[in-house]
Amino acid sequence: MAENRFAKRMWHASSNAIREILKVTERPDVISFAGGLPAPSSFPVETINRIAGEILTADGCRCLQYGTTEGYWPLREAIANWVKVKGIETSPDQVLVLSGSQQGLDLMGKAFLDAGDRVIVEEPAYLAALQIFRSYEADLIPVKGDEEGYDPEALEAALKEHQPKFIYLVSTFHNPTGITYSVERRQKVAELAAKYDCYVIEDDPYGDLRYSGERVPALQTFNPERVVYLGSFSKIIAPGLRTGYAVVNNPEIRQKLVIGKQGADVHTSNLSQRIVQRFLAEGLLPGHIETICQDYKAKRDLMLESLEEHFPAGAKWVKPDGGLFLWVTLPEDISAIDVFPRAVEEKVAFVPGAYFFAQGGGENTLRLNFSNATFEQLQTGCARLGKVLKEFLD
Ligand SMILES: Cc1ncc(COP(=O)(O)O)c(C=O)c1O
Repeated sequence: MAENRFAKRMWHASSNAIREILKVTERPDVISFAGGLPAPSSFPVETINRIAGEILTADGCRCLQYGTTEGYWPLREAIANWVKVKGIETSPDQVLVLSGSQQGLDLMGKAFLDAGDRVIVEEPAYLAALQIFRSYEADLIPVKGDEEGYDPEALEAALKEHQPKFIYLVSTFHNPTGITYSVERRQKVAELAAKYDCYVIEDDPYGDLRYSGERVPALQTFNPERVVYLGSFSKIIAPGLRTGYAVVNNPEIRQKLVIGKQGADVHTSNLSQRIVQRFLAEGLLPGHIETICQDYKAKRDLMLESLEEHFPAGAKWVKPDGGLFLWVTLPEDISAIDVFPRAVEEKVAFVPGAYFFAQGGGENTLRLNFSNATFEQLQTGCARLGKVLKEFLD
């Protein structure tokens, strides 16, 4: 069909590069480090089965009825209580339940962005966020950072020059780089947002998956009015429940997000919300997270060891304290996009890092996921990839 049949904002929307890659990696003989999927063994299937049965037996008709856009009140209460572990003090009416935290990104775009508005994004940044903001015809302004987050001087210069509507960041165990913002950088971002009258989206779906180091307070705690905090149960219960949340202390922003959500999906699945609420109310979440973290910590460590053993000298990687990803930097002259087809021939896949850069660059980087593979696959896959990389280096 001719492109001009579609809205202009969709003309240049290419399909998600990762989804294209995932198609290749669906082949059962390929070991995939490409997706960002939790381990299926981490899903509490039996508990959810029991809870769903109890809920439907006790209150089936209400679970299956329409609900309020803001979310099921007891879940909003439970979330307001849960986020205290992140240092966030809030009340249930400042919590909005979302159909995954990704919906929060879309609703922020819907609420704030006109064509040509600017958004500051990390370099590299979460790919789907880039696509969402682009779908609202925003101009993306990538700003460099390091292992502690945005570079404060570069961020201030960009704020001054571009007057963006908001700054987007993944504060803890970043996707794709695995880094965590230091306390000082969190403070600095919050301070700069206030100075330049701009908002911040703190996207934090991985913060509870910590395997080493100390917890850091949410960036929102440094400026509760200006920072919209997005959290998710996808990585700590199950992504298929599509249940996430936003803590939005600013009432005007909250109202716009609620109106946006009404149009998008009326409300998040009542059944999912009640399952998550019961999971929290029964006090199951901390123990469940601990079990997941034990498994993922062992996987992270094994992948790090395997990279050490099999990857060529000249490749470097970040050792993350949590999350699902390792970020690898190859020597400058090797393109991970060129490596990819050769790696797939050797039956191993990853995501070339260039896809996470809003305006080009990063060709010599790649992202590896360690949560979804088995221990054996982690070792075999790293050996295969190491062999391919050595070929390219030679
Ligand atoms: C940085 C980041 N934000 C948001 C999401 C979306 O998560 P959810 O399943 O809560 O929509 C993901 C999922 O991978 C992510 O990596």
